[in-house]
Amino acid sequence: MWLWSFLACLLLSSGRTVSASTYLIGLGSYDITGPAADVNMMGYANTEQNYFRGSLQVASSDIYCGRASRKLRMETCTMNRTLLLVALTLMLVPGGYLQYVVYLVTSLGFVRQSFDVIVDGIEKSILQAHENLRPGSIFVNKGELVDAGVNRSPSAYLNNPETERKKYNYNVDKEMTLLKFVDDEWGPIGSFNWFATHGTSMSRTNSLISGDNKGAAARFMEDWKADRPQFVSAFCQTNVGDVSPNVLGAFCIDTGLPCDFNHSTCNGKNELCYGRGPGYPDEFESTRIIGERQFRKAVEIFNTASEQLKGKVGFQHAYVDFSNLDVTIPKAGGDYETVKTCPAAMGFAFAAGTTDGPGAFDFTQGDDKGNAFWKLVRNILKTPNEEQIKCQHPKPILLDTGEMNEPYDWAPSVLPVQILRIGQLVILSVPGEFTTMAGRRLRDAVQTALTSGSNGEFDSNVHVVIAGLTNTYSQYVTTFEEYQVQRYEGASTLYGPHTLDAYIQEFRKLAAALLGGQAVEAGPQPPDLLDKQISLLIPVIVDTTPIGVNFGDGTYALVEILQGEDEWIPAYDDDDFCLRFKWSRPAKLSPRSYATIEWRIPDSAVSGSSRAFVVA
Ligand SMILES: *[C@@H]1O[C@H](CO)[C@@H](O)[C@H](O)[C@H]1NC(C)=O
Ligand SMILES: *[C@@H]1O[C@H](CO)[C@@H](O)[C@H](O)[C@H]1NC(C)=O
Repeated sequence: MWLWSFLACLLLSSGRTVSASTYLIGLGSYDITGPAADVNMMGYANTEQNYFRGSLQVASSDIYCGRASRKLRMETCTMNRTLLLVALTLMLVPGGYLQYVVYLVTSLGFVRQSFDVIVDGIEKSILQAHENLRPGSIFVNKGELVDAGVNRSPSAYLNNPETERKKYNYNVDKEMTLLKFVDDEWGPIGSFNWFATHGTSMSRTNSLISGDNKGAAARFMEDWKADRPQFVSAFCQTNVGDVSPNVLGAFCIDTGLPCDFNHSTCNGKNELCYGRGPGYPDEFESTRIIGERQFRKAVEIFNTASEQLKGKVGFQHAYVDFSNLDVTIPKAGGDYETVKTCPAAMGFAFAAGTTDGPGAFDFTQGDDKGNAFWKLVRNILKTPNEEQIKCQHPKPILLDTGEMNEPYDWAPSVLPVQILRIGQLVILSVPGEFTTMAGRRLRDAVQTALTSGSNGEFDSNVHVVIAGLTNTYSQYVTTFEEYQVQRYEGASTLYGPHTLDAYIQEFRKLAAALLGGQAVEAGPQPPDLLDKQISLLIPVIVDTTPIGVNFGDGTYALVEILQGEDEWIPAYDDDDFCLRFKWSRPAKLSPRSYATIEWRIPDSAVSGSSRAFVVA
């Protein structure tokens, strides 16, 4: 299916000693596509082209243990000394599944169906993984992939200290870190990898549900291992904040010239500036190419992976209130000072969007002033007080979301932070999109904390990866210096200029706790907003299946090939890159709707009779 939303999970346990292998490993995956009709896509905030509109950006990688059980009632999660890793490819997924108001505005509220399929998919994939638990080993490998991501806010990156920038060859991370799972008996059974590039190869004008380049890569890798039908391949997100897959750069659609460097505008207008993918002007082609580049690199380092993970499995998790946190940071001269985070707020440049999906009106990136008209509009919703303005400085506040609570909270303040360990691999689960340099600082801080405090338990060989957009969503995290520039990412760094310092401080605590084995404080529980959700989306009024058949029993679309006289063999479903399933309504509220299947016949297709149809 062209519905790339899929979910995979890995279950590990060091609880038993099994002959040659180190761990018990289980993998699973499940479709989490959800309602396709009439729902705006998560990713680009835009209500204009609902029906299948949009494209996504949330390549979510969700990692947790135990905590999930409250919501999902998953007993498997609470198994002792068992780690669970869920990677959720939520690219062009229909929106409406997040609970805070600001992420629901464009999908006209909460969409229960979107939420339920994800919860259901998580549960099913965990159960599958649990049933598959078998002795095996895990290998880790890394490789450099240079042509699948560029920095989309280089002017903000340049504001980081030169001495720091000089330590790196590139202004984005080019490294892919991959885990290879090998069953003692069956051989390779799957792989997870982390690589930083946004799932924004499909532009905001796309209206098809899609897993974007990460989903494409995962499908390519599973097809590559087609001799193993249970092979699970996840392409996870990491410090992706300022990384675009549109690697040719950003150009003006009217003149074809490069956009303004500091503001990503064309003659002052941000809505004319678009990033170009390698398949420009064909965004399907761009998606395929960026997916394929990640897939090829993953295969290469999968095949050569030789470093085996060995040692303990463990994790630490805490909830932290980021709206009002004291953060101790080093000062010039060797001293320390205490600074504060602020209640969440979004800056003017948030509304400018990015070169992957520019916003509308007169907002521009790199705006540290704002303008009088939009401040007036803002004040209708909420006027930020002096303290908040000062705390968020130099961000001009467009939406004071952290202080807006009607009809319920607009933005999160309590966030989950989590560290996981599988032998010498350490995973940092962060509920946001860290920029390149923010991610480097966090990884370095944790690595130092682990190696200096460990009595040799961790040596310099520890691998630290960031699992981005994990467990909840709280937009972006830039460095203090990038924040000053107020590009889109800085404007979307919710808790003020010291947001990153707060993360580093809290992750140092988690790292220390991981080493010491004593639990960190659990922290305040985030609110459960599920029963407060409001849905303004007009439901599909009549849409049923024949008796005895349920939605989701089949795939959306299928191509079958005739074999022999009268035997039809399924060949392609709508998760395949060559098959596109399109749905439309002739008019708003029309009781009729149309489904169109487009099959772009691949060179590899066997010739002969074929037929395509829709199974809904
Ligand atoms: C979990 O494992 C620890 C350490 O092996 C043990 O002390 C504890 O009793 C176990 N807890 C459960 C619920 O089995
Ligand atoms: C971008 O802004 C910086 C800082 O204000 C300035 O020094 C630089 O000249 C600008 N670059 C361009 C290409 O406008």
